[in-house]
Amino acid sequence: MRTPFICGNWKMHLSPEPAAALARELAAKLGDCEGVEVGIAPPFVSLPSVAEAIARSPIRLFGQNCHWDKQGAFTGEVSAPMLRDVGCDGVIVGHSERRHFFGETDATVHARAKAALAAGLQTIICVGETLAQRESNQTLEVVGHQLRAAVSGFSPEQVAACVIAYEPVWAIGTGKIATPAQAQEVHAAIRGWLGDLAGASTASRVRIQYGGSVKGDNALEILQQPDIDGALVGGASLKGDDFVRIVAAAGQKAG
Ligand code: PGA
Repeated sequence: MRTPFICGNWKMHLSPEPAAALARELAAKLGDCEGVEVGIAPPFVSLPSVAEAIARSPIRLFGQNCHWDKQGAFTGEVSAPMLRDVGCDGVIVGHSERRHFFGETDATVHARAKAALAAGLQTIICVGETLAQRESNQTLEVVGHQLRAAVSGFSPEQVAACVIAYEPVWAIGTGKIATPAQAQEVHAAIRGWLGDLAGASTASRVRIQYGGSVKGDNALEILQQPDIDGALVGGASLKGDDFVRIVAAAGQKAG
């Protein structure tokens, strides 16, 4: 049984003070999180204040990206060991906003994931197709390619330390959620590819999150699919009560 995993991606929202306030609200409302793993990914500058706010809570702290080197002349970047040093448990890599607005490629996503694992960070690797790719029946080809490139050369142990987030680009921030069947089809394919790459027993342990317009009132339906093990949540993760409802829906799945 895979523990459902809900992670809030706060994107470029919330400076240190308001971020800590939301983190405190979530810690109070979620309590022991009841059978669900919960993470939040604030902007870099808010990581220290949020780390302090959730210090006595099971909520885990994530960065939104990391560089592939430990340090160096890379203006604007943050390394995986630096994220560890401010208290991060994990990091998101390959988010479609990074791929589309900041030129992230399959090769850089792979390099970032590798560095994150080397630093001992749990690594959420995002994959997903655009609307044009879905409409031209390329979804499985695109997602399969992104996945294989991201974990290329990883040992089964490294694959097991990853979480895959399937996020159809057309569903992110648009209010258009994939149907449970559309999402399940891709999740099952991802688990199959992970099996080819790392063996069936590793594949059966990897959590595969869905992301894209997940909210309190649609989470349960999507989370009930057999290969959907949680959610990566953008907009709704900025609203305490909505995020708490999503975690509660995951708790129902956990039984
Ligand atoms: P959304 O974003 O929930 O606002 O659609 C999801 C994501 O980008 O991870």
